[in-house]
Amino acid sequence: MRTSPVWSPQQYGTYADERARPFRDLVERVHATDVRSVVDLGCGPGALTATLREVWPEAMIRGIDSSPQMLEAAAQYADDHLTFELGDVREWTGSDADVIVTNATLQWVPEQLDLLPGFVRALRPGGWLAIQIPGNGDAPSHAILRELAGTPPYAEYAKDASLRPDVPGPAEYVDALSAEGCVVDAWETTYFHLLSGDNAVLEWVKGTGARPVLQSLPDDLRVRFEAEYGARLAAAYPQKEYGTLLPFRRIFAVAQKRG
Ligand SMILES: C[S@@+](CC[C@H](N)C(=O)[O-])C[C@H]1O[C@@H](n2cnc3c(N)ncnc32)[C@H](O)[C@@H]1O
Repeated sequence: MRTSPVWSPQQYGTYADERARPFRDLVERVHATDVRSVVDLGCGPGALTATLREVWPEAMIRGIDSSPQMLEAAAQYADDHLTFELGDVREWTGSDADVIVTNATLQWVPEQLDLLPGFVRALRPGGWLAIQIPGNGDAPSHAILRELAGTPPYAEYAKDASLRPDVPGPAEYVDALSAEGCVVDAWETTYFHLLSGDNAVLEWVKGTGARPVLQSLPDDLRVRFEAEYGARLAAAYPQKEYGTLLPFRRIFAVAQKRG
């Protein structure tokens, strides 16, 4: 299974405000003080990582991501307090972090629960781990994607790429992180994003969930797939006078390592 696509920072930047909101809601629940060291695992194009400078102005902030394209976009935000580096969260190790944030990334990592002990070990006592992932695998946007990708003529190229790992729910994060000696605050929220523009949901998923499928297809089939998928998305998420409503469930876990 292909778990991480080649990213386009530009496409991902579509609907940046809507994508930023869960990040802000996540970070707001991190009540860390005297923060010197922050790590953002799967920092992507860096715009959200850069906002952490205002939250923790004294901190050294490191963004880590496995996509060279995303890191190239992130470089514009780098300064004395903010650095970016290429790395895979599955291999990352650290120590004495005050805060580790990982936003909209671990859904790409099937073994994510196995990584949590290492993340907690990388925190100083009293440090904080903040996780957000989409929990919308059953939404029409993804169900239609899987169905179409599993149908000829697309299936031979795209079926595997449409399969995504199951993601933990809030209760699984509570279990896993409590077992590592953390006090855990986990929850889920469904945002009702009101998107502007034509083919809004197609534009949204082209930046994230649909990328592996689209990239697995030869050019001619990709064009055809996009047209068919777009038409079915438009029916499932009708464009109204006030915009296109995209309900989007997200799962959050904020954990403080006991001192
Ligand atoms: C949806 S983007 C989120 C980016 C950023 N955290 C944000 O909220 O804007 C997912 C990011 O996870 C990164 N990613 C996926 N798997 C990864 C891995 N195993 N190690 C490091 N980064 C990974 C991708 O390269 C991509 O930049």
